[in-house]
Amino acid sequence: MRILCLGDVVGEEGLRTIAAGRALSRLRDSLMADLVIVNGENSAPGNGMTPDSAREIFDAGADVITGGNHTWRRREVYSYLDDEEYVIRPANYPDAVPGHGWCIADAAGRRVLIINLAGCVYMESLASPFDTADRILKQNEGKYDAVIVDIHAEATSEKMALARYLDGRVSAVFGTHTHVATADAQILPGGTGYITDVGMCGSHAGILGVATEDILHKFRLKTPVYFTPAKGQCAIHGVLFEIDGNGKCVKAEGIGT
Ligand SMILES: [Fe+2]
Ligand SMILES: [Fe+2]
Repeated sequence: MRILCLGDVVGEEGLRTIAAGRALSRLRDSLMADLVIVNGENSAPGNGMTPDSAREIFDAGADVITGGNHTWRRREVYSYLDDEEYVIRPANYPDAVPGHGWCIADAAGRRVLIINLAGCVYMESLASPFDTADRILKQNEGKYDAVIVDIHAEATSEKMALARYLDGRVSAVFGTHTHVATADAQILPGGTGYITDVGMCGSHAGILGVATEDILHKFRLKTPVYFTPAKGQCAIHGVLFEIDGNGKCVKAEGIGT
């Protein structure tokens, strides 16, 4: 079974990148992916996610959409998060927050548990992603054939620590949030596929999807600024995991278009 996981789709340029010329759909076919998981936390214009931006990601070829710290920025997405089975958000946010943190999707006739978690280092202080993963795995015992985890976090060490903690118990762990792809796709000793960050989908012409001058303003003048989306140099970044019949990863490969 082959699972393609893509980094944060950033704004309208990100949506265009995966939809134009059926880019994601063609990538899915050429990689023979059985399941496509896409992080959608920044897919709405001006950040966050809306039901419309999520639908565009599904229409482009995704099966499951994961989230992050920006998931709840737009109020119009709240009931959608509650209703849509295959849109998930970090599971370790407080229980009262809209949405759910895991789902089980079918891939080539096999049950894949997808878990979304957020890091706690340089981010909100949340429930432990380690304990939350344990709880979800226990709760779903016997109900899945493979497990994929999206750890949406700032600190590379925290993502790697989570992957090592789950090594042998989940099929793969991929990192999101930094929007910069890392070159460390690998298989851990226990058979868990791993990459620290899959990067982003959208314009790589600016800084993390935002126009260079706005980010420079923020760093140099320290005053508020509206983030204009970057334009051009569009690319899709992600990782492809191949999972065997025992739920172990046998191949982990960074993808960049
Ligand atoms: Fe993001
Ligand atoms: Fe994020």
